[in-house]
Amino acid sequence: MCGIVGAVAQRDVAEILLEGLRRLEYRGYDSAGLAVIDADHQLNRLRRLGKVKMLSDALDDHPLAGGTGIAHTRWATHGEPSEENAHPHMSGENIAVVHNGIIENHESLREMLQGRGYEFTSQTDTEVIAHLVHWELEQGGSLLEAFQRTVSQLKGAYGTVVMDRRDSERLIAARSGSPLVIGLGIGENFLASDQLALLNVTRRFLFLEEGDIAEITRRNVDIYDVEGNAVERSINESSAEHDAADKGIYRHYMQKETFEQPSAIISTLEGRIDANSVLVDSLGHGAKDILQKAEHIQIIACGTSYNAGMVARYWFESIAGVSCDVEIASEFRYRNFVTRPHSVLITLSQSGETADTLAALRLAKERGFMAAITVCNVAGSSLVRESDIAIMTRAGTEIGVASTKAFTTQLTSLLMMVTALGKQKGTVSADKEAEIVKALQRLPAHIEQALTFDKHIEALAEDFADKHHALFLGRGEFYPIAMEASLKLKEISYIHAEAYAAGELKHGPLALIDADMPVIVIAPNNELLEKLKSNIEEVRARGGQLYVFADESAGFQESDGMTIIPMPSVDEVCAPIFYTVPMQLLSYHVALIKGTDVDQPRNLAKAVTVE
Ligand code: M6R
Repeated sequence: MCGIVGAVAQRDVAEILLEGLRRLEYRGYDSAGLAVIDADHQLNRLRRLGKVKMLSDALDDHPLAGGTGIAHTRWATHGEPSEENAHPHMSGENIAVVHNGIIENHESLREMLQGRGYEFTSQTDTEVIAHLVHWELEQGGSLLEAFQRTVSQLKGAYGTVVMDRRDSERLIAARSGSPLVIGLGIGENFLASDQLALLNVTRRFLFLEEGDIAEITRRNVDIYDVEGNAVERSINESSAEHDAADKGIYRHYMQKETFEQPSAIISTLEGRIDANSVLVDSLGHGAKDILQKAEHIQIIACGTSYNAGMVARYWFESIAGVSCDVEIASEFRYRNFVTRPHSVLITLSQSGETADTLAALRLAKERGFMAAITVCNVAGSSLVRESDIAIMTRAGTEIGVASTKAFTTQLTSLLMMVTALGKQKGTVSADKEAEIVKALQRLPAHIEQALTFDKHIEALAEDFADKHHALFLGRGEFYPIAMEASLKLKEISYIHAEAYAAGELKHGPLALIDADMPVIVIAPNNELLEKLKSNIEEVRARGGQLYVFADESAGFQESDGMTIIPMPSVDEVCAPIFYTVPMQLLSYHVALIKGTDVDQPRNLAKAVTVE
């Protein structure tokens, strides 16, 4: 969602802030702004509607000098995208504030502040923070004290930073429900909502915890917990890739991240399997014990991560023989659910900061789940810190809003976990375990093969460019792969797409079939193949345009209205991961032809840190 960057340095920081915003732009991007305090203690602000590029062009025309500054990319929640609503927000000439999250009691605070004579210039919830700080400073005390009193009045989720031009070498930041990380430099310090923003200036980070308030100057970082006590937070050396924010030879991050999948999966597997087995202890301290006792699995996630959970449900039940439910986090958290005995909660999340998933985890901890495991891609994220075990997917930073390598590495991690669970429970024999492990070892090479279909799929994508709708079909664990394929297509090409379990067609969706409705079928050669062939005939008989991604051994013949894309035969257990790749390539190429913004599709954000 929104992104925050801040810096206190001796050198000019505008370019550092801007580079940080560029690196965060993938999170949210309807407007951007920055404010810098110069050597004469003047606070200068620049904001622009649109992408960070607009702000950067404006900065070329109006350079801002100064060593203390804050910056922000906005994804609108309260108030339309506009320059007036862009951050930083100010109170008078002195106070500037940036904020991620939502202040739920902003209306009552606004009324109170208006009663005190404050005039609002934006429709945002954030502006109340600026005026509150101003008011509290008038009551006396330091900027830190005024800010502490301010945040004690806020309800909701926030990561927020304030500066005061009269106290020009200091930033004060608070974290409550929206992540903030402090980057440590030499004689200069930084902060951001994601360490990625600061990797060009430091690799040493302190993660603020819930309720922390930090006072940051060039030489010191002092942190206070929710009670106001001074606390130490440990320093982490980041191993995140230096060049994660570079596209290299690729046109888009999504394309780069799609092609990174073989190496990402190698990283996921590294140190977790040997020749024939899954190393259960490598999944985390205590994993063996938790898996041994688990009698039920409850998966919670959103979006693409939810689709990964849907695939895993088939695996948990058919491979490990353990019952599994999967639920969308925003539903689960507001439902009066029943916790089954010895139930393990598994949250899936690329970012580790998705507000609904995090809220579901917190709720589940109160509701008697035996343990909480997260499968996550971002070290130090809230889900990782608040779960009993974190299985890191190690996909590397994913910047494209459309999730690709995060999904396939989630599936890879889940398949290892399922195998480990079955092994602990005695439902997976040593032979079965060895078969799955061999399949996992071959998976990166199979994904490489899938990527060689790029040109073929690029040509095929032409057929979709003038379409307004598309249907994706699959059966068994390929139904959630169809769901993921349809999510990908709608997300980046804006073509309305739906996924159906192929056996469900005749219960309604068949009515949609005509020559203008492309139907994409995922057809591996498995025990459901004959059933799937019957479903394909149902579409063919009604004049539907079929595109069948079929195992070359499945015996499909191309004919009028049916295009076959023959895929190599791969290990059955890993086939859902394999078939994901041609689906990603298809949506990518359709989006390219349609000329949409592939990496930053309209209305979407990478990390959804608000409800
Ligand atoms: O970071 P998370 O995996 O928790 O994010 C969940 C969804 O917001 C995310 O998967 C979203 O659906 C993707 N943009 C889809 O490509």
